Amino acid sequence: MAKYKVACLPGDGIGRDVMDAAQMVLEAMDLDLELIFGDIGWEFWKKEGNPLPERTKDLLRTTDCCLFGAITSKPKEEAKKELDPSLKDRGLEYKSPIVAIRQEFNLFANVRPCKAFAGNPLNYRDDIDIVVFRENTEGLYSGVEFFPVPDYLRESLKKGSKAMAKFDEIPNDEMAVSCRIFTKKGCRRIAKFAFEYAKEHKRNNITVVEKPNVIRETSGMMIREARDIAKEYPDIEVEEVNVDAMGMWLIKNPQNYDLILTSNMFGDIVSDLSAQLVGGLGFAASANIGENYALFEPTHGSAPKYAGLYKVNPTAMLLSTKMMLDYLGEKEYATKLEDAIKKVIKEGKVKTYDMGGDAKTLDFAKEVINNL
Ligand code: IPM
Ligand code: MG
Repeated sequence: MAKYKVACLPGDGIGRDVMDAAQMVLEAMDLDLELIFGDIGWEFWKKEGNPLPERTKDLLRTTDCCLFGAITSKPKEEAKKELDPSLKDRGLEYKSPIVAIRQEFNLFANVRPCKAFAGNPLNYRDDIDIVVFRENTEGLYSGVEFFPVPDYLRESLKKGSKAMAKFDEIPNDEMAVSCRIFTKKGCRRIAKFAFEYAKEHKRNNITVVEKPNVIRETSGMMIREARDIAKEYPDIEVEEVNVDAMGMWLIKNPQNYDLILTSNMFGDIVSDLSAQLVGGLGFAASANIGENYALFEPTHGSAPKYAGLYKVNPTAMLLSTKMMLDYLGEKEYATKLEDAIKKVIKEGKVKTYDMGGDAKTLDFAKEVINNL
């Protein structure tokens, strides 16, 4: 039996292209690791009415961690239209399978490093090195949503909040509610994770990004819990910045930021912005980490128009693979892989289209292998 079992879920679109690159690199590294491929994504929604089949969850349960490609998600009505005719009247609803895995496997910490590699022509500046810590299981992604809004909910909300009065005249079917649910536990565990990371990696500044001046209860809770956790780490500097201002500061002075701690939706936005500062989503890796399991995926989507063309930059996927090796405790291999990626970028001989070159996805992977 192999030392590590890794579930590989290529998913949709370019998820397959970049997964091939990761597989090539892993196979070149003589690690004692078994890759087990599983089903996920749009194809299984259309055919089976479930983009995350039970057998795939079983696969995750029997592996050490998961390497994940990308997923196509479409809004409710479009998703229904594409369902196999035999499944159409079953009241099935499409739910993003990646969000489902994060929640069902309690992968509460979404870690998204955005680092400018020397020689990358796409860097906004060359001195950026940010890591975004995004709460990954609650907030606006809780999935507690209503449309039309049922009477019982309206009545309870009205009893509980004067602010509801302004909606009195609005009919139930002209109103939608998405709940932004935060818990103390959720806030504390992502905060703790970020501070522990700071300590371990000798990084000494954390910016907590929320909006407590307006979204008082939820953002307020995140800020309070982060302040409380911060007391255990007197050497780490903590700043609080509102999310709108943070968008501006990240464009103005991105080099001033170190670690960013934030909630689910804000983290989704801030991590795309930060990715663009270091070359775009082609360079943005991520780790979804829980107490017992972890999943590693590039931050980018499935880019259907490039699917199967083997054109996209696999750097994000390869850096996610590097994060996986770190998680498995294979630090030496992780460093070797990151160094090889850095070298390929610095030399600039093999560049994918986004970097102004014409190398294909797997050419880039081969060049990384040559530099291992
Ligand atoms: C991400 C993506 C996902 C998210 C989508 C694909 C559901 O944008 O990982 O950032 O919103 O979390
Ligand atoms: Mg996103």
